Amino acid sequence: MTHRMERDGRTRSPPRWTRSQAAGIERSDETVAPIVYPPEEDVAPDLHCWDTWLLRSRDGSIAEIDGYRVVFSLTAPADLLPGTRHDVATIRYFYSADGRNWTCGGRVFPEGTAFGSRQWAGSALYDDDRLYLFYTAAGSRGETELSYTQRIAVGTGGTITADEDGVSIAGPFEHEILLEPDGEHYEREDQSRGMIYTFRDPWFFEDPASGETCLLFEANTPIPDPEDEDRFDADPAALAYNGSVGIAVSRSGDPTEWTLEPPILEGVGTNQELERPHVVVRDDGYHLFVSSHEHTFAPGIAGYDALYGFVADSLRGEYAPLNESGLVVTNPASAPFQTYSWLAYPHREEILVSSFFNYYDLQGLSLDDVAHLPPAEQQRRFGGTLAPTLRLTAENASTRILGTLEHGHLPIADEELPPLLSAFADDGSGAESGARYGDGPVSR
Ligand code: FRU
Repeated sequence: MTHRMERDGRTRSPPRWTRSQAAGIERSDETVAPIVYPPEEDVAPDLHCWDTWLLRSRDGSIAEIDGYRVVFSLTAPADLLPGTRHDVATIRYFYSADGRNWTCGGRVFPEGTAFGSRQWAGSALYDDDRLYLFYTAAGSRGETELSYTQRIAVGTGGTITADEDGVSIAGPFEHEILLEPDGEHYEREDQSRGMIYTFRDPWFFEDPASGETCLLFEANTPIPDPEDEDRFDADPAALAYNGSVGIAVSRSGDPTEWTLEPPILEGVGTNQELERPHVVVRDDGYHLFVSSHEHTFAPGIAGYDALYGFVADSLRGEYAPLNESGLVVTNPASAPFQTYSWLAYPHREEILVSSFFNYYDLQGLSLDDVAHLPPAEQQRRFGGTLAPTLRLTAENASTRILGTLEHGHLPIADEELPPLLSAFADDGSGAESGARYGDGPVSR
């Protein structure tokens, strides 16, 4: 059971994203991003790039290595069909002196050295001159048939250096499995009845209020017997959709020593996949974000491929869904799969949201339909690069998209953002977002 002990000795269930909250999901001016067009220049034309994360310091600020910022992305050769990229995902790093122009530095782990037959999303910590590269080990190294086991791993011991030629990350890395599902709070693959099993996407976070060192991750809550399950107000068919946001804690602060604790959010009966969970702390609370798909909502709930969010006054909730339903950013109805895998981070008064450019120009096709298109058509409609960064405001459990930056523009530190003009501005005082900053016309 995923009950947890409170300090006073009582137990309580983790906070939930309920079916009735999610039933309110609906596109609005505040939550729909502008249409995305291909960038003028692709940073890495030979690669499909998707989930991306920034190198950070222990306090969550974005690390700078001699003036460079560094991101890590899941990548695959661009000549592969986009739908098969997850089967060969490899983590590569990119660096930039200005947060706009990125150079690929190569793979972070030499082939065959990391855990898993491929590596999925993670997070990256630079602390005390040490690199901690957290990742998901999917499957087993060397397996001939792909399996979907997922374990949370880290590579440590490598170095990161910078000179006038750029940044280089070098091994050898020591790899360690940090976490596996316990079958009690976190479903093992053999317990899963759902469509897509998850135990992945570790995200390092140090709680500024308590100093607690945490690793968040995407998981599923075990549902031993759906017929007997009265804990959730959902029928047995909906209970197969059992996504959660997991947490492990390091009591010593050592980023390689973790103990599992009960989830901080459960979407049982609501959604199967609460992907890439991460937190943005602001004066008005802990904003917990996850990405999820239209097709992973339980029967009876119509959601979108979107960034969803929740706010609480502490890391373990009670969480209230942002904008009442949880919907924070989605794609326009005319391009519902144009971006995915959002990552939010604070910048000045705003929250910036990066994502990758996914399938576009589908003209009403579903993601399932895409797989039946001729290979060249599948390739043509897949972005596989960073999308325009979105600018958000958040206040009192509500958010609003303010505008966009260019594809892959990731401002840090005190970098000033262009004035907000345009369709997004409150007072209608003028222009920008699309026109000047690369998106083309704003159209929903
Ligand atoms: C989201 C995601 C992640 C996973 C990766 C695998 O885009 O499903 O949860 O780590 O893709 O490619």
